[in-house]
Amino acid sequence: MITPYTKMSRRKLEEEYKKVKKEYEDYKGKGLKLDMSRGKPAPSQLDLSMPMMDVLNGTSDCDEELDCRNYGCPGGISKAKKLMADLMEVSPDNVIVFGNSSLNIMFDLISTAMNKGIMGSTPWCKLDKVKFLCPVPGYDRHFAVTEYFGIEMINIPMTPEGPDMDMVEKYVNNDPEVKGIWCVPKYSNPQGITYSKETVKRFAALEPAAEDFRIIWDNAYIVHHLYEDDQDVLYSLPDECAKKGKPDMFYMLASTSKITFPGSGVSALAASEANLKDVFGRLKWQTIGHDKMNQLRHVRFLKDSEGIRQHMSKHADLIRPKFELVNEILQKNLAGLDIGSWIKPKGGYFISFDSMDGCAANIINKAKEAGVVMTGAGSTYPYHKDPHDSNIRIAPTYPEIDDLREAAELFTVCVKLVSLEKIINS
Ligand SMILES: Cc1ncc(COP(=O)(O)O)c(C=O)c1O
Repeated sequence: MITPYTKMSRRKLEEEYKKVKKEYEDYKGKGLKLDMSRGKPAPSQLDLSMPMMDVLNGTSDCDEELDCRNYGCPGGISKAKKLMADLMEVSPDNVIVFGNSSLNIMFDLISTAMNKGIMGSTPWCKLDKVKFLCPVPGYDRHFAVTEYFGIEMINIPMTPEGPDMDMVEKYVNNDPEVKGIWCVPKYSNPQGITYSKETVKRFAALEPAAEDFRIIWDNAYIVHHLYEDDQDVLYSLPDECAKKGKPDMFYMLASTSKITFPGSGVSALAASEANLKDVFGRLKWQTIGHDKMNQLRHVRFLKDSEGIRQHMSKHADLIRPKFELVNEILQKNLAGLDIGSWIKPKGGYFISFDSMDGCAANIINKAKEAGVVMTGAGSTYPYHKDPHDSNIRIAPTYPEIDDLREAAELFTVCVKLVSLEKIINS
C-alpha cells in the first residue's frame, strides 16, 4: 500500500528524502547527456520516408498537370491539393498548398492581419489593443508568434474536452479586441487532448464581437495516432461553421512535417473561398509558387489518404513503445504519491505532466543538473509564465529507448526530490 507523500509523517518524509536524494546523487554521478526537450521524430522515423527521395530522379517525368520544374500553379498542383485536402478532411477547392512549414503560414496570417487587415477590416496595428486567446498548456511557438507582434495573450484553461468554452464564449462574444484563438484540436500539444464534438459545435456557434475574429485550427497532429484500434475522431469545424453560416471564421493548417521530413515537408491552409481569395491576394505577390518538386515527391510517395494511413501506422509502431515506456515509469514511480498527474495520450507527440504547484522549474533544473534536458519551465504558457509553475512537457519520440528509460527514471526521481523538499519545508 503506497502512502501519499502529502499524508506521510515527518519522520517518514525525512527517511524518504534521504533515500531519494541518494538516488539522485547516483544519477548525477553517471554523467548522463540526454534530451527529452523537443518533439522531433527519431532518425528511425525519418528513415521511413527515405524512399521518397527515390521517387524522383534525373530521368523522372515531372509533368503533373504542368512541368513541375518550372514556375506556375502558385496555389499548389492539383494532386498536392487533393492530398492535403484528404489529410485535413476538406474539399481541395478550399486548400492552398504552401511551402515547408505550417508555422510559417500562421506567422504570415498574423503578420498580414497586423499590416493589412483581414478581408478589408482595419489592420490590427492601427488598433489600440489586440488580444488572442491561448488555451493552456499549449504550443510555445504559437505563443511566440503573438508575443512577437505585441498581441496581448489571455490564458484559457484546457479541460479534457478542449478549451474552457464558457471563457472562450465570454471573451469572443463580448470583447471586440479579441481577434483570435490558437487551437491544436486533435492530440493537442502538449496534452494529447482531442476537442469533443460539443466543443467543436460551441466553437462554430461563437458570435464574435470582432468581425475579423479567426479560430486558428492547427491540425498538426491530425493523423498522428498511437493505436490502430483506439483513435480519437475530431468533429469537423468547417462543416459545422458552414451550417452556422460562418464559413470564414477559421483558418485550418496542417503539414507533413511529422509525416515525412520536418522542415522539408509540405504545408497547407484550408479555409473558406473568401478567406482563400484574401490570402491569395497577397500570396501572388509573395511568391511565384512554392516548391512543386517537393509537392510532386510527396504525391508520388504518399499517394492518398490510405497511403498516409499506412505510413503513419509505421510511425506509430516506432513511437508507441516510447510513450508506453514513459507512462509505465511514471506509473511505477509516482502513482499514488499525490505529487503529480499526467495524461496517457492516444496520439500526438507529447506527454504533459503536472507537478505540485511551484515545483516545475525546480524539477527541470534538477534534471538538467543530472544531465537530462527537458522543455524549459513555463514554455507551455504565454510569456513563459506558468501561473502554477507546474506543467512540464515530456517529448518521448527522439531519444533511443534505453536513453529514454534512463531519462524518465531520473525525471521521476527529480519529481520526488523536489516535491519532498516542498512538503518538508512547508
Ligand atoms: C501544434 C504544432 N503546430 C505546428 C508545428 C510546426 O509545424 P510545421 O513544421 O509545419 O511548421 C508544431 C511542431 O512541433 C506543432 O506542435
